[in-house]
Amino acid sequence: MRHLMSPLDFTVEELDRLFDLANDIENNMAKYAHTCDGKKLATCFYEPSTRTRLSFEAAMLNLGGSVIGFSDAGSSSAAKGESVSDTIRVISCFADICAMRHPKEGAPMVAASRSSIPVINAGDGGHQHPTQTLTDLLTIRSLKGHIGNFTIGLCGDLKFGRTVHSLINALVRYPGIRFIFISPEELKVPSYITDMLKENNIPYQEVIRLEEIMPRLDFLYMTRVQKERFFNEEDYVRLKDFYILNKEKMRLAKKDMLILHPLPRVNEISVEVDDDPRAAYFKQVQYGVYVRMALILTLLGIHV
Ligand code: NCD
Repeated sequence: MRHLMSPLDFTVEELDRLFDLANDIENNMAKYAHTCDGKKLATCFYEPSTRTRLSFEAAMLNLGGSVIGFSDAGSSSAAKGESVSDTIRVISCFADICAMRHPKEGAPMVAASRSSIPVINAGDGGHQHPTQTLTDLLTIRSLKGHIGNFTIGLCGDLKFGRTVHSLINALVRYPGIRFIFISPEELKVPSYITDMLKENNIPYQEVIRLEEIMPRLDFLYMTRVQKERFFNEEDYVRLKDFYILNKEKMRLAKKDMLILHPLPRVNEISVEVDDDPRAAYFKQVQYGVYVRMALILTLLGIHV
């Protein structure tokens, strides 16, 4: 039995197969409509979510399966003091597969170690968000035809943003990736990540101003400042509008640069940018459903 805790749990070849399957699902939805008949997905979300939870649920419903779960720790037995290990043992009796989001780093891993059904990490604190990374990689591969040989700028909250951490981890396995990290001093990417890049001789640069590096980017990955991970409100207020991508800044970008964003967006991308053909963040949401469908089939060992 396999779980998904980090994007590195799959080899690059396995990811290629997963993305091939996701693209086949995209083009032949009807073929997959009953592949999970009788199967249940449990979504155990101890932290807020719109996209990830609903996209998992839509994915399972598209496959003919059904969904149970909770979307708030307060409405689960966690409020009574139940441990994640006990909860997953209980959920294992009800469902065939579980997607779990938790504010504590490592909680889905603890659950996986006690589970008799596959567990998918749907985001653990500021640590990892592997299914967002699968979404990001599928979007890049589908819109550009391949993953590799590009410069990607990651902008915003690189300290607390788990989607950023997972994506960097995953991209280092592809050839010719150059990273540019754009953040205020206080929200720089953690040193365990830059140490890993140094060890692997992967080129990266850290800058504060977005304008200065914009013309070099093939992808710009924008992120929101992670309000819920700040220790004090004052710091959040000071940093929240540090970057605002607008039409004027987009004039500096390459004609075929793509803007990605895991969403939710707060102020970091002005709505006027949404009509720019380079804005790929809503397409990205759609790819998130296809890749989660492919993931559910893969972890359940269902071959179509
Ligand atoms: C992200 C998350 O939860 O980490 N959202 C998502 O799942 N697409 C990004 C965020 O909350 O900023």
